[in-house]
Amino acid sequence: MRILVTGAAGFIASHLCEKLVALGHEVVGLDNFNDYYSPALKEMNAKDLEAKGVFIFRVDLNDDLSKVFEKPYDYIYHLAAQPGISSDTTLEEYVKNNIYATQNLLDAVLAYNPNLKSFVNIATSSVYGIEATVDETIPAQPVSFYGSTKLAAEQLVLGLQRLGKLKACSIRLYSVFGPRERPEKLYTKLIENLYNDKPFPLFEGSVKHERSFTYVGDIVDGLAAIIGKEAAVDGEIINLGTDEVNTTQDGITAVEQIMHKTLIIDNKPPRKGDQQRTAAVIDKARKLLNYEPKVTLKQGLEEQIKWYKEKFID
Ligand SMILES: NC(=O)c1ccc[n+]([C@@H]2O[C@H](COP(=O)([O-])OP(=O)(O)OC[C@H]3O[C@@H](n4cnc5c(N)ncnc54)[C@H](O)[C@@H]3O)[C@@H](O)[C@H]2O)c1
Repeated sequence: MRILVTGAAGFIASHLCEKLVALGHEVVGLDNFNDYYSPALKEMNAKDLEAKGVFIFRVDLNDDLSKVFEKPYDYIYHLAAQPGISSDTTLEEYVKNNIYATQNLLDAVLAYNPNLKSFVNIATSSVYGIEATVDETIPAQPVSFYGSTKLAAEQLVLGLQRLGKLKACSIRLYSVFGPRERPEKLYTKLIENLYNDKPFPLFEGSVKHERSFTYVGDIVDGLAAIIGKEAAVDGEIINLGTDEVNTTQDGITAVEQIMHKTLIIDNKPPRKGDQQRTAAVIDKARKLLNYEPKVTLKQGLEEQIKWYKEKFID
């Protein structure tokens, strides 16, 4: 199959590209290499992918996409987005990269790629709101610009599916971690600060937050399982995570134990928009995608710490 993956130079999409190549697919990536975090890290990911035969379009999704669609695709996995819940990110940036970018991509699909087998939209548990402990039938109640704009993007995609113009589904991911995790996220930051004996900024109350920390390898297995099952997932919203729930403190303790170091904590006021509790309900993914998360938090963190050491320390 010929597959387009947007956001290919980013954390999750780079793993997805590798998985799809390993399964024998022709994979084309797209990314604008923006500076939300170090473009050098994205270049590093892109180099790994290009070495594996992935061609990467260096283009912004808001620009003219006709070149990207010169040859049609069988599937599109749409991961490019403005991620994260940060007061440093403006509403405009969320709207531009989550809403407008998605609509421009959808316009291009309708214009140039009418026979797409499935448009797989990557959404987030953040759409559920303060607690994400429910199944897909419960109405979304986001509490952050990130969650609200990702919900809007999801509905743009599913709206076209409901109109019969597009085959599509939307997959809501839960706290993904593993090698290449974004530098501002919990585990990469923890590992970096522990290696460098730097104080770790901890938002008040966050050690008690409960999370379905899901290993990136399990996530990409679930995403790849959509291929060939597009009829079963058409029009569906599917949670993809793990039902192993840990607190942020559990995560900190696990990293400290693996690295044999103790964290220096720099307490910060609570962060607006943070979820209190996520616990992925994944019965639907199990049923429709035969999905089963396999990697525990400890096993995944061992892989992530190994990766970090190889890339940045040794
Ligand atoms: N990381 C998580 O825990 C998590 C959880 C739930 C959902 N998600 C979703 O998964 C997807 C990937 O997240 P990630 O953590 O890998 O983030 P990431 O920032 O590493 O990857 C996103 C990539 O998209 C690119 N991009 C952004 N705007 C673009 C635009 N306008 N045009 C072209 N490229 C653009 C960025 O340069 C980046 O490389 C996102 O849709 C995110 O909302 C992530």
